[in-house]
Amino acid sequence: MSDSTITPWVVGNWKMNPMQANSQQLIQDLKQFLEHAPITEQQCHVGVAPISIALLSIQQSLQGLSTPIKVVAQDLSCMAGTGAYTGEVSAELLKDSQIDYVLIGHSERREIFGDDVNKVKAKVSNALNAGLQVIYCVGESLEQRESGQAEQVVLQQICDLAAVVKADQWHNIVIAYEPIWAIGTGKTASPQDAQNMHAKIREGLIQITEEGQRTAILYGGSVKPENAVELAACPDINGALVGGASLNAESFYKIALAFSKQNN
Ligand code: 13P
Repeated sequence: MSDSTITPWVVGNWKMNPMQANSQQLIQDLKQFLEHAPITEQQCHVGVAPISIALLSIQQSLQGLSTPIKVVAQDLSCMAGTGAYTGEVSAELLKDSQIDYVLIGHSERREIFGDDVNKVKAKVSNALNAGLQVIYCVGESLEQRESGQAEQVVLQQICDLAAVVKADQWHNIVIAYEPIWAIGTGKTASPQDAQNMHAKIREGLIQITEEGQRTAILYGGSVKPENAVELAACPDINGALVGGASLNAESFYKIALAFSKQNN
């Protein structure tokens, strides 16, 4: 079971949305909720992952907020440093722009954009070596779940991660379990199914590193205000990676509230 001191994370993955004006509006709306009823960093790490060209303007818009919101990149290059790599943004360039967090291994990148295991490993390694904090996504397809392979697939993804994370880098890892069949489908894993997989992930992590006890494991896949409270009550679910519902400030705020530690 999770160490009770884990601070939850709720991160909005905006994916390839929305237009700039709407993303600014979304941030203004979210700021209003947070200014009215703040969620402290001790209660929950709240983050948003906008499209790459909006990272800096969103970061700018969030300045001065009493409860900081983390700005998270949705991806980064598997090449490090700087160089002749048209279209790429490296870990070092993100860090240079004070973008300190990055999603890696999202199933949409793995499935649509050819992020195979070697690319994912290179991205993780580059990100950690540049001092970024990584939200590493794992999850099985419907076919894999129905054929009884879900656990094996997810634990293999954790082993892939372990192959590149150095002992002193685990504190910069957050895991997001996102069953592919639950993403954008309206079908959430039942809290029990999600908890079971999170507990397996936790066991796997603890075998690899002592830090596994303290690693936040987020659930992603059709998280909404309506199911957030039940998911948040599961002992090994330490937050959420939210897609669709993060495009609405009120829904996203309510989800963050559901996961926040209320008594801090
Ligand atoms: P939805 O919340 O839209 O299902 O997306 C989940 C996701 O992929 C977050 O990274």
